[in-house]
Amino acid sequence: MWRELRPIGRHPESGGYRRFAWTGADAECRDWFEAQASARGLTYEVDRNGNQWAWLGDPVEGDAVVTGSHLDSVPDGGAFDGPLGVVSSFAALDELRARGARLDKPVGVVNFGDEEGARFGLACVGSRLSAGRLTVEEAWRLTDGDGVTLPQAMEAAGYDPEGIGADPERLARIGAFVELHVEQGRALGLSGDAVGIASAIWPHGRWRFDFRGEANHAGTTRLVDRRDPMLSYAETVLAARREARLAGAVATFGKISVEPNGVNAVPSLVRGWLDSRAEDQETLDVVVAAIEEAARDHARAGGVELDVVRESFTPVVEFEHALRDEIARILGREADLKVPVLGTGAGHDAGILSGRVPTAMLFVRNPTGVSHSPAEHAAEDDCLAGVTALADVLEGLARR
Ligand code: GLV
Ligand code: MN
Ligand code: MN
Repeated sequence: MWRELRPIGRHPESGGYRRFAWTGADAECRDWFEAQASARGLTYEVDRNGNQWAWLGDPVEGDAVVTGSHLDSVPDGGAFDGPLGVVSSFAALDELRARGARLDKPVGVVNFGDEEGARFGLACVGSRLSAGRLTVEEAWRLTDGDGVTLPQAMEAAGYDPEGIGADPERLARIGAFVELHVEQGRALGLSGDAVGIASAIWPHGRWRFDFRGEANHAGTTRLVDRRDPMLSYAETVLAARREARLAGAVATFGKISVEPNGVNAVPSLVRGWLDSRAEDQETLDVVVAAIEEAARDHARAGGVELDVVRESFTPVVEFEHALRDEIARILGREADLKVPVLGTGAGHDAGILSGRVPTAMLFVRNPTGVSHSPAEHAAEDDCLAGVTALADVLEGLARR
């Protein structure tokens, strides 16, 4: 499976993946998913939001056990964030068949569309729509950097955008959703464990800061005469770092667009996107308010106008304790594993579904912790330990 996925959407120079929603690379990933389903004789379906499902047994029976993740990537992402969960899901089904496991409930594998939000700016669009956490009107307004809207992109990829929206009936068939994911930190590396269980996902959001100044000549405009939005932006980046450090949170400006984007022109507009996350909502609110206040002070001092728009927000997710404890029990019994339980600052479809469906996550050790980068890695032995753990969990949950 890895061999087939490896070249899809891989940039020849960076070695990173550019698998953005509803592009050609995304279509190739989707074709791969469908082929994996068909090779195993699973029932394949695409839901109204373009999420792909592969079923062993009939989901209409209900109380289904579902696993899966996503196949799209951030710009120049690694091979594991998303695909490890999907590959492990199919591998776990193979393992269960090889064991002759008794599965009393339907078992499904899902590939959620557009998890990273790399193209339209909003993460987890597929699961958000299905869970009713994104309205159809909001989804129709999503636009990529080239001015292409989400419905236009879906249509160009051969999907019908008219049908998108909440899918409570499909979600109601699921008794448990377990997403396996590469760890995006070093907790397992430090504890010496191959596999962990998620406790919670930090609250997180994205804010767009528009600094508007005045375009002018870089050679002839005296420094005192400039209204330079790049300067206010740069001061805001430093303030974000300081506020996050003081609060024990994280804050990142990872994307920027500049107009007119000329080397020899003072910019007229600098648009920067802030991603900020913290362990609890109160801390996050304090950090973002402090960053915004600093941005306003710097903008005012520089004669620059500022607009701040919150583009998305995901509240804290505390995974259901009963399912989490059940999984720890299964792993303790089947594999004699005492599995660490850890929180994460990364967002996931499992977090979006939580509250609608009992959800849980398994993490696989990432020795360096590096993620959202071509250097993201997990050792083969650890990936295999993840597959075995996932198979144990699916088997345990699928018994009546
Ligand atoms: C997704 O990986 C996110 O946490 O932004
Ligand atoms: Mn990611
Ligand atoms: Mn992911």
